[in-house]
Amino acid sequence: MTITRRAFLRGAGSLIGAGALADLWRPAAASVTTMAMPMAGRTSAAMLAAPKVPLINPVSLARFVDPLPIPPTARATEQRAHPAFPGRKLPCYRMQMRAFKMRLHRDVPPTSLWGYDGSFPGPTIEAKRGEPLLVEWANALPTQHFLPIDHNLHGAEKSHPEVRAVTHVHGARVPAHADGYPEDWYTPGQSKLYLYPNAQDAATLWYHDHAMGITRLNIYAGLIGTYIVRDPEEQALGLPTGDCDVPLILCDRLLAQDGQLYYPVSDDPDAPWVMQCNGNLPLCNGKIFPYFEVEPRKYRFRLVNAANTSFFDLSLSHGQPFQQIASDQGLLPKSLERARIELYPAERADVVVDFAELAGKTVQLRHQSQGILEFRVRDGAKRDASVLPATLRDVPRIDPAGAAQHRVMTLNETDDANGNALQMLLDGKRWFDPVSENPRQHSVETWSFVNLTGDAHPIHLHLVRFQVLNRRPFDLFAWNAHRELKFTGPAQAPEPHEMGWKDTVRADPGMVTRIAMRFEGEPGRYVWHCHFLEHEDNEMMRPYDVLPAHS
Ligand code: C2O
Ligand code: CU
Repeated sequence: MTITRRAFLRGAGSLIGAGALADLWRPAAASVTTMAMPMAGRTSAAMLAAPKVPLINPVSLARFVDPLPIPPTARATEQRAHPAFPGRKLPCYRMQMRAFKMRLHRDVPPTSLWGYDGSFPGPTIEAKRGEPLLVEWANALPTQHFLPIDHNLHGAEKSHPEVRAVTHVHGARVPAHADGYPEDWYTPGQSKLYLYPNAQDAATLWYHDHAMGITRLNIYAGLIGTYIVRDPEEQALGLPTGDCDVPLILCDRLLAQDGQLYYPVSDDPDAPWVMQCNGNLPLCNGKIFPYFEVEPRKYRFRLVNAANTSFFDLSLSHGQPFQQIASDQGLLPKSLERARIELYPAERADVVVDFAELAGKTVQLRHQSQGILEFRVRDGAKRDASVLPATLRDVPRIDPAGAAQHRVMTLNETDDANGNALQMLLDGKRWFDPVSENPRQHSVETWSFVNLTGDAHPIHLHLVRFQVLNRRPFDLFAWNAHRELKFTGPAQAPEPHEMGWKDTVRADPGMVTRIAMRFEGEPGRYVWHCHFLEHEDNEMMRPYDVLPAHS
């Protein structure tokens, strides 16, 4: 059997896992490829290269020796006028992207990183619904990249400067010119002023780099942070606040033994891109295996999966469930008891954990069977009498029958005609193909993702919040033979935790995943893409246009 580049790259996680890396860290996308059709492999197939430097094995690291960092809260530096809000001054924040060094673990030498305001994760931006703010995103990075750029990827050609950046607030409803469009990147020494109207419900959003063709590298370097929107309805619910409302940004990395980031590469030095990047070291707010001292009371944790490709499968070591109160775009209709929470890249879950019965004890947050964060519950007296409300907010269901358009799009992987590089495509189209999705402002549409690949892909739309309608198995052979969408079973309703507003959805292999949304927001050009960053950088991203409403 010919082993293709794809087969090798897909098996990547397990390949490294068998070697220098402990297999504690299960790769997300390295599932068995029951659905993928074998392709004629190119004979000179590039494979995942073995790391040239020895990597840190997680087993060798002491557990729970560093306190959990809480990212600083961003402070507005001035008040500024903006033409969109005449007669008002808006708070303006300045976020400078720069290089710095930080210890990711007590026993690991300081790591060179890029971060917003020299912090990883960056400062947390606090916003209130209906109160617009400005951020000046300043690129003060070095002029050379320190991670392996693949110049074959669209938008990362040698003719472009190596270091480019542009920030997107994931989940924010913003005008197109402030959305961090991938081609709106700028170079060190430049900055952009973006307006965030915050005309949206309370939710845990996050910001990250989005520069064309190198997003995976810029985010891996550390360009991530949390953006919290609050509103009075949520505040009236009596949920934990202040020190008891904690963002937990989860990601993973590979580190060389000298503490420096290792980003995996193929064995073709001219085409280093790999299909996935699974770290073996889990990080919570930028620390490996930290601990967090808590009071014996309720806490709200805002879980964000900011990893390149890995999913997190979270549980608590004492066997008690989380109370999930929110997903990507804010509060669920009601709080849910969940023993495990699985998050794909870019997905969020807000949970309440009550430590009241655990005074003097420890509990671990686990990813699969591995403790990644230890809670140490104080014996203190700071108790709370708050009660978690059973119902949180109304999430009226969108009726798909009222949709102006029903779009059906494939997710697929392909080797190009010359047997060259593997690409990941949305509806068989590449980034530079003409725009094909052009919803009208305020109209409702349903989008169906027909997943022809062997993996689940987390699909994200900018600008809008959506609802998951259902997932339905289909006949891949009928599709491949004559593009016929033949269902092979009943539609499966979304799970209760998917009944809130979402902005990223897991599109499972062998399934048609259907979502519905209303295109609220301003007309303009946005993007939709797979949030596996390696896929997004290699064509699994498309522009889309919101057309002005009919007047
Ligand atoms: Cu999290 Cu296009 O982004
Ligand atoms: Cu993907």
